[in-house]
Amino acid sequence: MNYPLTGYHHITACAGGAQEDVDFFTGAVGLRMAKQTVLMDGSIPIYHLYYSNANLEPGSVMTTFPYSRKPGRRGSGQVYATAFTVPKGTLEFWRDHFTRRKVERSPAQERFGQHFIRFQHPSGLAFEVLEDKDDARQGWTTPEIGREEAVRGFHGAVLSVREVAETERFFTEALGFRKTGVDGPYHRFETGSGGANKTITLLHEPDRPAGSWTFGAGTVHHIALWGADDDALAQQKAIYEELGYTDASEIKDRFYFHSMYCRCPGGILVESCCNVPGGFEKDETRDQLGTNLHLPPWFADRKAEIMASLEPIRVPETATASKL
Ligand SMILES: [Fe+2]
Repeated sequence: MNYPLTGYHHITACAGGAQEDVDFFTGAVGLRMAKQTVLMDGSIPIYHLYYSNANLEPGSVMTTFPYSRKPGRRGSGQVYATAFTVPKGTLEFWRDHFTRRKVERSPAQERFGQHFIRFQHPSGLAFEVLEDKDDARQGWTTPEIGREEAVRGFHGAVLSVREVAETERFFTEALGFRKTGVDGPYHRFETGSGGANKTITLLHEPDRPAGSWTFGAGTVHHIALWGADDDALAQQKAIYEELGYTDASEIKDRFYFHSMYCRCPGGILVESCCNVPGGFEKDETRDQLGTNLHLPPWFADRKAEIMASLEPIRVPETATASKL
């Protein structure tokens, strides 16, 4: 059977403050600012900030809702950590970089033979830089992070689950992943050619209380997998429904892409999404991406009110293409 989703598109988390989030992703992680917009559901204006690698590739896009008004509760049924790939032999660089930036981090660790450092976002979110010799995607560079060290994109998410079996069944039967290894409490699943951008890891934590599912600072809200077009989303929705996952959402217009959501048995929300013509360049040129706040057309008449209610942010010049 051919499955329609081929890897990641984005991962979306709830941060705390907006400026500290911008500083963390553009300075500590070294991503480019790809888009400033707002959460498209609900009535309270919340930023939606997008960060990515040099080429805005699906599978490199980290997005956040700075949600300081409400903390989330970390736990099982949630993304435990989000792993970014970095070139082999760069963990020492990253260790020193995090020390200079006063980012809390773990010592180097190993999972499935790959070395990584886990580090912490100011809101408590966990991220990893994981060495991967095969990831040839182009990282964004900053005055502190050069081409030889830069983050390439996602390796994948680590999901905390109380039970492995049903989440395993979801990723293998509904999404076409195959199980490729167990390493202590970690269960690895890969799709297509596997490796970077095509790996989901389950962390078995049978005794960990469930985390929150709502928007709340310090928790990941969902992971998004990528398909080529609307047909791919319709096909994925049909697979879910045929298997009995009847809570797959309708296909929603997210302006820069289309999305469809389904919560997996372990509790993690999994989005399917596809590009639309123009993508992130629908409302600003490639050079201008991330430099200003953009609202979808249906919020245009509320622009002044929305802008007045958001924390002002300053994006470092080195995080946008206008630096070139
Ligand atoms: Fe999303």
